[in-house]
Amino acid sequence: MEQPPLFPASPTDDPVSRRLLQLRRQLAYHNRCYYELDRPEISDAEYDALFRELQALERQRPDLLTPDSPTQRVGGQPLERFLQVRHSLPMLSLENALEEGAILEFEQRTRTFLALPERHVITYQCEPKMDGLAVELIYRDGLLVQAATRGDGEVGEEVTANLRTVRNVPLRLQGDGVPALLEVRGEVYLPLAAFQRLNAQREEEGEPAFANPRNAAAGSIRQLDPRVAARRPLAMVCYGVGLLEGAPMQATSQSELMAQLAAWGLPVSDRQRRVAGIEQARQYYRDLLAERDGLPYEIDGAVLKVDDLRLQRELGEKSRSPRWAVACKFPPRQTETVLEDILLSVGRTGVITPVAVLAPVELAGVTVSRATLHNWDEIDRKDVRIGDRVLVERAGDVIPAVVKVLTERRSGGERPAPPPSYCPACGAPTARLAGEVALRCLGGLACPPQLTRAIIHFASRDAMDIEGLGSKYIEQLLSLGLVKDLADLYRLTGDDFGQFERMGEKLAANLLNAISASKERDLGRFIFALGIRHVGGRTARILAERFGSIDQLQQATVEALTSIRDVGPTVAASIVAFFANPVNQAVVRRLLEAGVAPAVEAKKIGGRLSGKTFVFTGTLQHVTRDAAKALVEGEGGNVTGSVSKKTDYLVAGSEAGSKLDKGRTLGVTILSEDAFSRLFDRGGV
Ligand code: IVH
Repeated sequence: MEQPPLFPASPTDDPVSRRLLQLRRQLAYHNRCYYELDRPEISDAEYDALFRELQALERQRPDLLTPDSPTQRVGGQPLERFLQVRHSLPMLSLENALEEGAILEFEQRTRTFLALPERHVITYQCEPKMDGLAVELIYRDGLLVQAATRGDGEVGEEVTANLRTVRNVPLRLQGDGVPALLEVRGEVYLPLAAFQRLNAQREEEGEPAFANPRNAAAGSIRQLDPRVAARRPLAMVCYGVGLLEGAPMQATSQSELMAQLAAWGLPVSDRQRRVAGIEQARQYYRDLLAERDGLPYEIDGAVLKVDDLRLQRELGEKSRSPRWAVACKFPPRQTETVLEDILLSVGRTGVITPVAVLAPVELAGVTVSRATLHNWDEIDRKDVRIGDRVLVERAGDVIPAVVKVLTERRSGGERPAPPPSYCPACGAPTARLAGEVALRCLGGLACPPQLTRAIIHFASRDAMDIEGLGSKYIEQLLSLGLVKDLADLYRLTGDDFGQFERMGEKLAANLLNAISASKERDLGRFIFALGIRHVGGRTARILAERFGSIDQLQQATVEALTSIRDVGPTVAASIVAFFANPVNQAVVRRLLEAGVAPAVEAKKIGGRLSGKTFVFTGTLQHVTRDAAKALVEGEGGNVTGSVSKKTDYLVAGSEAGSKLDKGRTLGVTILSEDAFSRLFDRGGV
């Protein structure tokens, strides 16, 4: 259970609190435009600017933080494990009707059970069957206080911090007649576009791709670190209610209930429809099936529900599923074809991906001629050979996958395709890095696809910031053979640019100046610019501060690196591996020889909390007292043992005692553990 804030901020009339309220309202409004209405009114950058302004104000005035602020979507600390929660009413599952004919049987059974006369037309509420993960949200007095997975239907896992990151889940219900208690159920899913982006990124990073959007959604919600879920654009659709107490209005049908949820700001499906009689319900199923491939999310069928809640109660449930609903599954989108060849594609990070070349075949309205094979573990597991007849499937993924080989159809002429020992793009050896499934080219910066990406990154704004040198020019420099590694950039002359189409002397001179000016960038940017895997801008700055020169960093051991807070074993191993590679060593040497002289920025004095005094009381759930003290001191603050008028912040954990009373009497700003940890949260959203 999430702890309620100790002291909900009371709006006062000073300019900061006014601006704060205004920002929160604006952000909530733009969230709704973006996620629910699909009609953004401002750009992402404008949204981010508002968000950052709010974050800054809340950091300045932690006393004004409220749990429904949009900044509170990203929880602080990773959990050690999930807590189990028992659902107050069991979360049931649905009986499946696998063929369309079974829809009629469902109607017959319902009629018989209710002993309805022929002339009584049953009204059905029809909804898409979303393919995601079932969860329950609990709102008390309109505030989201808990979220849990379905689990086995009786007991699920508490995933409140992760659900708070789902943008279309309101942290506070809106509108009139908000109930004292609302348990609302629905499906969390990952839209297809986001799913494809996530998988592409995972393959590039050598991580196994998710088989389908459902696994991706489930994997994101069952992450202990809420920052992972926050980075994935999950969404939710509500389709049912558990307990509902203290609501002035009571819905009498499923469709009214959905309208009520929508009025409170909860997301419901825009594809739901109320129909009269089973024939119309069948038509709904057919229409939805026809629409299926054009939807931005994956569905695996239609759900038909008897609309009238009185009839629902009368029908009741049998074992684990209600008698008043049925899931009508769609047939799988699969077909057979011949795998004619396996192509190798080298990505810009050096990952080599096997791609199946298929005899073209029509699948759900699309001609399919390529399918991803993901990696060689998959090829081995499925025993894929060139010439095989294979079953291909589009499971939400635009790029189809080879589901299985029809081994019984083999003729004996099929050929296995082992992983290549050499990179097809540059001829360098390949290898699998420890803990990765992906096969990588070891050519590093000598491999053309990798070099293109490396230079684009090197020249980018947050790295060496070479103004004007974009990917278009970089690709020309590479194709003309003028640049064979990063250091060649610093050897370019006006004559070289003379070979470019439509480039005047002025432009060439500007580019040369920009390249030359980048020699003076600071060490942090230079380290970031090298493109070491897992080393982002922030880590690069920390490394620069700690090691002071590129020479020192090159000699750093895994132990020295992991002793730095913020640097874990993966990052450390990646840094050591980068500098152990002779190609990379040579590039760094040549860059320095070409005159690149990364300087160390003078260290900033004082932290955000300098001059502030903190006192802790009670038990903190997620950090030890020592760790909390170190956090405060790391930002220049002081920690003392007793509360006085000089105390700026009193951090109250659970079972806080007399210090809390004293703090209240003295009017000290009191922070819950959550509010405290958010002061140090740099994860962003
Ligand atoms: S109603 C009492 N409606 O399907 C009935 N379920 O097999 C409970 N699902 O666990 C579910 N879309 O995860 C319902 N529109 C929808 C649904 C839906 C997807 C999932 C849900 C549930 C499973 C049941």
